[in-house]
Amino acid sequence: MTVVRAVGDPGEPDQSARAVDPPVRQARLLSPEATAEDGGPASTRPTALVDLVGQPEVKAQLQVALTAARQRGEALEHLLLHGPPGLGKTTLAQIAAYEMGSRCHVTSAPGLERPRDLAGFLARLEPGDVLFIDEIHRLTPVAEELLYPAMEDFVLDLVLGKGTTAQIRRVPLPRFTLVGATTRAGALSSPLRHRFGLVARLRFYAPEDMAAILLREAGLLGLDLQPEGAVAIGSRSRGTPRVGLRLLRRVRDHVQVRDPGPIDEARATAALAHLEIDDRGLDDLDREVLATLLVAHRGGPVGMEALAAAVGLEAATLEDVVEPYLIQAGFLQRTPRGRQATPLAWRHMGLGPDPGGQESLAFPS
Ligand SMILES: Nc1ncnc2c1ncn2[C@@H]1O[C@H](COP(=O)(O)OP(=O)(O)O)[C@@H](O)[C@H]1O
Ligand SMILES: [Mg+2]
Repeated sequence: MTVVRAVGDPGEPDQSARAVDPPVRQARLLSPEATAEDGGPASTRPTALVDLVGQPEVKAQLQVALTAARQRGEALEHLLLHGPPGLGKTTLAQIAAYEMGSRCHVTSAPGLERPRDLAGFLARLEPGDVLFIDEIHRLTPVAEELLYPAMEDFVLDLVLGKGTTAQIRRVPLPRFTLVGATTRAGALSSPLRHRFGLVARLRFYAPEDMAAILLREAGLLGLDLQPEGAVAIGSRSRGTPRVGLRLLRRVRDHVQVRDPGPIDEARATAALAHLEIDDRGLDDLDREVLATLLVAHRGGPVGMEALAAAVGLEAATLEDVVEPYLIQAGFLQRTPRGRQATPLAWRHMGLGPDPGGQESLAFPS
């Protein structure tokens, strides 16, 4: 079933208090699997570009492109969003549709395995629509081939019949905007990458941006989150809104059950300690990766595949999900010979500074 949702539906966060000129802007979300996080009824995702906290470069770039497209009455250029999970790629795709006043068709590359799946999406497009393809680096070569003429010439090449009698029929498509999201821009084929007019890289959020995101969320959820509490949670959120929002909900539960009252620094810190989030925001998995690197491989360098296998992860998960923040926060380095722990990693894990010192194996669990 196709879900068509209009901004202003019951359950949407109240839009009336925002300082934008919204009446003409209506993004409608068409998604077979709209969840709360993807903009379902319980979503607190920002809808307009002004509501998006942080990412100043991306915002500025997008603002110009949106304004130019609106002034010319054209569809927005195809947009590629890349960066680690949870930084706002899906949110930005929906914001682009909202700002253009157009509909957003949401899908993901693994759901487009057969050419006719993608052809179906393309055939349903109306002028100016946004087609959002998540995990776009996972498109099959056949789907990519179908996408090239669609992106470039706005035509759909349908293959009719089979074998030697097969014929190609060109069907014109309306001008639309493809928004692709990926955690691995490097895995995209270059013909595909070059067909995007706009390429935006999302970065980890600064602590003050994380605090602002948490305060906004608290406002929408009706929580009494104090600024110091927001800073405490924000600084342990790996610079990642999805992580921060999840921690906020866990902290809310903890405070409600154990110590009712405003979420101030003390309550936030106590709850986070209970959740075993350390003061740098590293969770069990991060610490396991670091501990394995430090203890089993004496700090490295060690190949990514070997490290992933040792902690029972797929290499791609280690590379896309765990590693980026460990690198950004200065715990890990990528070297030509593999992954290497930094002195900070040794100190943070409470292990001796001497990588060879076997007596230093007693690390906190
Ligand atoms: N800049 C931001 N301001 C407020 N909330 C944000 C921001 N970026 C992301 N979020 C929230 O974080 C969560 C994850 O964002 P999402 O767009 O799904 O990330 P991605 O698609 O990159 O994995 C969503 O709940 C979204 O509302
Ligand atoms: Mg997403």
